[in-house]
Amino acid sequence: MERTRWYKDAVMYQIYPRSFCDSNGDGIGDIRGIISKLDYLQDLGITCVWLSPCYKSPNDDNGYDISNYRDIMDEFGTLDDWQEMIDGMHKRGIKLVMDLVVNHTSDEHAWFKQSRSSKDNPYRDYYVWRKGRGKDGKKPPNNWSSRFSGSAWEYDETTGEFYLHLFSKKQPDLNWDNPKVRQEVADICNYWFEKGVDGFRCDVIIYISKKEGLPDGKFNPILCGDEHFVIGPHYHEYIHELYEKSWSHYDCMTVGEGQGIKRKDAESMVDESREELDAIFTFEHQESDAFLTVVPRPFKLSRLKKILNNWQQLPDTCWNSLFLENHDYSRSIPRFGKPEYRKQVAKMLAVVMQCQKGTPYVYQGQEIGMSNIEGLDRSQYKDIVSINVYDLAKKIFPPLIPVVKWALRKRARDNARTPMQWSAEPNAGFTSGEPWMMVNPNYTAVNVAEQQADPDSILNFYKKMIAFRKGNEIIRYGTFVEYFPKSNKIFCYERNYNGKRIFVVGSFSDKPVAFRLPEGYTFFSATLALANYPDTPATLSARTLRPYEAFIYEVE
Ligand code: GLC
Ligand code: CA
Repeated sequence: MERTRWYKDAVMYQIYPRSFCDSNGDGIGDIRGIISKLDYLQDLGITCVWLSPCYKSPNDDNGYDISNYRDIMDEFGTLDDWQEMIDGMHKRGIKLVMDLVVNHTSDEHAWFKQSRSSKDNPYRDYYVWRKGRGKDGKKPPNNWSSRFSGSAWEYDETTGEFYLHLFSKKQPDLNWDNPKVRQEVADICNYWFEKGVDGFRCDVIIYISKKEGLPDGKFNPILCGDEHFVIGPHYHEYIHELYEKSWSHYDCMTVGEGQGIKRKDAESMVDESREELDAIFTFEHQESDAFLTVVPRPFKLSRLKKILNNWQQLPDTCWNSLFLENHDYSRSIPRFGKPEYRKQVAKMLAVVMQCQKGTPYVYQGQEIGMSNIEGLDRSQYKDIVSINVYDLAKKIFPPLIPVVKWALRKRARDNARTPMQWSAEPNAGFTSGEPWMMVNPNYTAVNVAEQQADPDSILNFYKKMIAFRKGNEIIRYGTFVEYFPKSNKIFCYERNYNGKRIFVVGSFSDKPVAFRLPEGYTFFSATLALANYPDTPATLSARTLRPYEAFIYEVE
């Protein structure tokens, strides 16, 4: 099968189905809700949807805990609805990438129910079971921590052993050293490919191979054990096997979630010659305003640019993803700008991100500038991580609670999961019932309907940005040259390809900033392509940038 690598020209749109659109008034987004918005997606210009998990799940982690990989979650609809959705997408020239969550399953998956039932069950070895330590065998087998807080091990009464769960205890890790498990995963991929799926976003795929003997990790309060399973000993072998058994037979894309990896690691994971993953999500840039992804720290533009610039230097045979938002991070406007300049910030971020090399991802609501939800109390948080962190503070040291509240307000995943704001109708037009999660009260001012009618809206700017990018060879192939890397106010770079260039500038300041062309910068002609202020000069020259001003010139 020829791999056309269509993803290099794609503009992706991530749907978090629970919060996208509710069709039947039960307060939970669903597949028929997505079907009702396909024209909206087509009009936006995106070419591929990444759909967060819609499989059967008890929803301990909102679908990232799967109890049946071959069927649809009851709350979301049926396989027939799903088929109608994908057909509707394909008819509109939109591809569909599904979430592949196979580092772990739900503890309610039939495999795990079998596995925990006895030590000699044929499914025992589908998961990672170990005897406990200590005299009574009740101490976890090693010191690894769950990414969702606490130990990564859970004691199971029935057989008196522990099972490994790098996420919640309802998400037991699969044992990829078992060839049967690897065959199951390939079969699952092929099942969906035969139904027409165009690819997979591979959830925490870098964790699948664990170091033999499962040794203790170096102390780390949040990520203990990482060095023994991030791109573990058999990672490449197992992924290549999956490529051979499944992915190579389809003109698909696979993109791996690469939390914690560096550029050199990525080169070994996505280089075309390796026949493994096609593309990678990297997260270093998400640390430009946080430690260990969760602890907020002041944002510094030069830090962000240094990281992004480094990733832009990936060899041509590797492929990266461009994103600021997804269902695991808070919204970008409050992270990178002042809320009073919401519109300019949203458009500026679109410009500086989407003109880089890689596949851009728009997360639902980003295209209308949705922002964080302020001041939730404990009962309004829905995400297992927020709840765990909150309860842990309460248990071990209650004076910490105000700090936790502050950190959650800035970083909680809940911020990105509030219902999509379609209109100024009750509940933002998301549901006619009681929404599963609180709607951001700013929906009367920030919503799709209003922005569709306003030519100067963020939504209409996104359409222009996406249209500019599509089929643009400079953006697909061009080299990336950064200017003023030390500036903490201006993001400025050029892309060039075959003698043609685009020159991109974005101000990250809420104050006027003096801008001059880079020293010795020469060009024959420059045409303004896109800008976030209406009266941007037609010629490229020195000027004072207004708050969060951004523009793109085509230069020859
Ligand atoms: C990934 C997902 C996240 C989920 C976790 C466990 O990081 O993006 O939402 O909680 O994996 O599956
Ligand atoms: Ca519903």
